[in-house]
Amino acid sequence: MATPPNSGYATPMRRLIALSLFASAQAFAFPLPQRDVARIVSPIWADEATRDRAGEADNVMHLLGVSAGQTVADIGAGSGYYTMRVSPVVGPKGRVIAQDIEARYLNRLKHRVKLAGLRNVRFVLGEPADPRLPPASVDIALLIHMYHEIAQPYGLLYRLRASLKPDARVAIVDLDRPSANHGMPRPQLVCEVKAVGYDLVSIAELKPGYLAVFKPGAAVDPATVKACRE
Ligand SMILES: C[S@@+](CC[C@H](N)C(=O)[O-])C[C@H]1O[C@@H](n2cnc3c(N)ncnc32)[C@H](O)[C@@H]1O
Repeated sequence: MATPPNSGYATPMRRLIALSLFASAQAFAFPLPQRDVARIVSPIWADEATRDRAGEADNVMHLLGVSAGQTVADIGAGSGYYTMRVSPVVGPKGRVIAQDIEARYLNRLKHRVKLAGLRNVRFVLGEPADPRLPPASVDIALLIHMYHEIAQPYGLLYRLRASLKPDARVAIVDLDRPSANHGMPRPQLVCEVKAVGYDLVSIAELKPGYLAVFKPGAAVDPATVKACRE
């Protein structure tokens, strides 16, 4: 069995409760989203030159305080726009975990990372309901232009928690448009993420879209998770 979440559980009793909730979640079927889920159509949101001209990655890393020594999980890394730019910032003592559910995207990214000589990048093949990241390892989890494609967001977010360090942040970038059109309306996003036990920290405007930041909150019993309606 995977290691249970350790974030935010100070006392042995709280840890015991978290352990039993997490154990039951392993076999638990979380609700499916009550909205459209966008199809996976591409390993990249928009071309890298355009994104760099807009200063996208620099801006997001600045807003999140990405710094040397951190472990950053790039969930839905695709062709690696963020992986390639976060790697030099976290440096030799830090780590990027490039994660995706599409093995073909991950294999191409492995090749790209090798060619670039980046030595602090690890790769994880996830599942739609489980990111399969190492326990208690992540300072910042990035979900950039991919949340609307997650077929099982409640399960994925719940299990993501086990991989977070106590002060970790979950950062979601998306567009203000319907999920069927590769976006995620803010109220819907906030409702879904809160439903599995995260607290909203902030929402910053991006051009285009937004960056929503969450932190782990009080533990939630998986049996009580209800899907948010549009
Ligand atoms: C539009 S691309 C964005 C890639 C990259 N984050 C970017 O900003 O360019 C969406 C990526 O999310 C991945 N994806 C979709 N559902 C996922 C899930 N449940 N877990 C991890 N990755 C997923 C897709 O395979 C694809 O690589």
